[in-house]
Amino acid sequence: MFQNDLLNGKRILITGGGSGLGRNMARRFMELGGQLVICGRREDVLDETAKQLAAETGGSISAHRLDIRDPEAVDETVGAIWQEGPVDILVNNAAGNFLARTETLSHRALDAVINIVLHGTSYMTLACGKRWIEEGRKGNVLSIVTTYAWTGSAYVVPSAMGKAGVLAMTRSLAIEWGPKGIRLNAIAPGAFPTEGAWSRLVPDEKMAEEYETRNPLGRPGRHDELENLAVYLASDQSEYITGEVVTIDGGDWIGGAGQFNYGAKLSNADWEKMKGK
Ligand code: HXC
Repeated sequence: MFQNDLLNGKRILITGGGSGLGRNMARRFMELGGQLVICGRREDVLDETAKQLAAETGGSISAHRLDIRDPEAVDETVGAIWQEGPVDILVNNAAGNFLARTETLSHRALDAVINIVLHGTSYMTLACGKRWIEEGRKGNVLSIVTTYAWTGSAYVVPSAMGKAGVLAMTRSLAIEWGPKGIRLNAIAPGAFPTEGAWSRLVPDEKMAEEYETRNPLGRPGRHDELENLAVYLASDQSEYITGEVVTIDGGDWIGGAGQFNYGAKLSNADWEKMKGK
């Protein structure tokens, strides 16, 4: 789908790049010539991923241990990364989430998710944004959100609040920083199974099957489909797109929203009965 040199010369920083979606995006960006910097909380996971991706793709990658909830550590680490070379693209991928009845959550549980999703993402965006602005460089921010950033969702309320904030930040800064050559977009993925998310969000196989196939296309997303969208939004080929969120969920959220979508469950006999009424 893309030319192999599409991301040549681009330095791309991915939070939570050691595993899951972040790791997959890192690999694809490297295959297309991107120079990767991944960060995350677990040094051993990051180092192993960096080693494997370098071997698999022959590309360039470095890893920095970083807890994005810590604003001082964010500034220090982004500063150190910048010393090695300025970043062109920031991918805000790191997230925290679990399924729980909201009335059972402690304030620490609320903070555990919101501090990663909302605060961490905004610390990272500001740390890169202020450097781009100081240096008069172009910048590009791609954030992973979810469709419940705008629909809301029961049982993942701190995540919904955090992701809604990230979407508001994306649109707001697209306006404020557009004149400075910085663009910001988001991707809202549906069911793209990963070990980290599924172990926290889907209690058993039956629910996983239901969640992955209830969308109009009847299947979970393939990771290459999500990676290709991320590549497009990260690349200069999408330079006129900013402040946008692209949903990639097989039609899942609109499938749950349309008033008469139950029509898909009607039989031929049901449709015949409806005729002429
Ligand atoms: C209720 C919970 C809980 C749970 C933790 N807590 N897990 N409460 N149900 N399942 C509470 C703890 O009891 C504690 O409160 C407080 O939260 C902090 O917990 P810690 O374990 O100390 O926090 P921490 O180590 O920072 O862990 C953060 C985390 C964890 C968010 C809770 O799950 C994490 O690190 N996740 C990162 C990876 C991740 O979540 N990936 C999936 C993202 S998927 P008390 O009061 O007891 O001290 C995603 C997209 C979803 O976001 C959309 C697509 C499906």
